Amino acid sequence: MPVRHFLTLTDLSPEELDQLIDNAIALKKGWRAGEVRDSLKNRVLAMIFEKSSTRTRVSFEAGMAQLGGAALFLSPKDTQLGRGEPIEDTSRVISRMADAVMIRTFDHETVERFASVAATPVINALTDDYHPCQLLADMQTFREHRGSIRGATVTWVGDGNNMCASYINAAQQFDFNLRIACPEGYEPAKALLDDNSERVTVIRSPEEAARGADMLVTDVWASMGQEDEQKARAKDFAPYQINPELMSLAHADALFMHCLPAHRGEEISQHMLEHSSSVVWDEAENRLHAQKALLEFLIIGA
Ligand code: CP
Ligand code: NVA
Repeated sequence: MPVRHFLTLTDLSPEELDQLIDNAIALKKGWRAGEVRDSLKNRVLAMIFEKSSTRTRVSFEAGMAQLGGAALFLSPKDTQLGRGEPIEDTSRVISRMADAVMIRTFDHETVERFASVAATPVINALTDDYHPCQLLADMQTFREHRGSIRGATVTWVGDGNNMCASYINAAQQFDFNLRIACPEGYEPAKALLDDNSERVTVIRSPEEAARGADMLVTDVWASMGQEDEQKARAKDFAPYQINPELMSLAHADALFMHCLPAHRGEEISQHMLEHSSSVVWDEAENRLHAQKALLEFLIIGA
């Protein structure tokens, strides 16, 4: 069997993704009931972080421990990666010792190059282009609160960034409609939009995009690596804030999500995380459960 990777949501079929969400929900139930599980006993996940993280690191590390395995935190500062060892050489070595490798980095090409020679599964834990692990948690959260997302309308408000690109992939894989409200010049990649034009539309007005939607979702205006653009972006994105007024245009039981970390007063208003529509803490917790299901799928084919 060839090694399976998870670099974008399109690496798994819609059926596999549906099953993975079912498994995540079951794992969450078992964990809450105090069941001990050792499906990944003696297995090791190597975690390479070239960018900061709270949720991703803790969820992968805790997840491996909860399944009886272990996780290694590797930063470029302390490994030969930071001193220029080629990514392919690093991949060949680490993937001979670890049962899976998780990478958070800048260029998406880095995870593709790493995976192209890896002997074990590689997981994209965020690149400049995609953040597929977050979408597993978001899809689990929608399912838990509202049932199937098939045919629903999701409105993305803000930057056409890595999260937005993964929402486009999710629209395809989970079969929902996606409206993207973003300022001119901040659209997701044209090829990605063109490939998904049946389900995905760009609408300039956040109000128009929010009207009647089943879910509103946003992310920071300046992503990691774009700190220098913060000021210009704050100006361009000023009308693109999720707040109770915008939320009131959506369907009466619409959900609000944010991958976090959030910037109150920028992409969301001060108390949006506590709004009655907000499921952000469940969404954050579900990183743990969804990724445990992902690790079992990739490492033992569960
Ligand atoms: N949402 C998310 O990936 O958070 P971290 O950057 O804290 O991992
Ligand atoms: N778009 C954000 C997501 C953080 C989880 C970033 O890349 O910084």
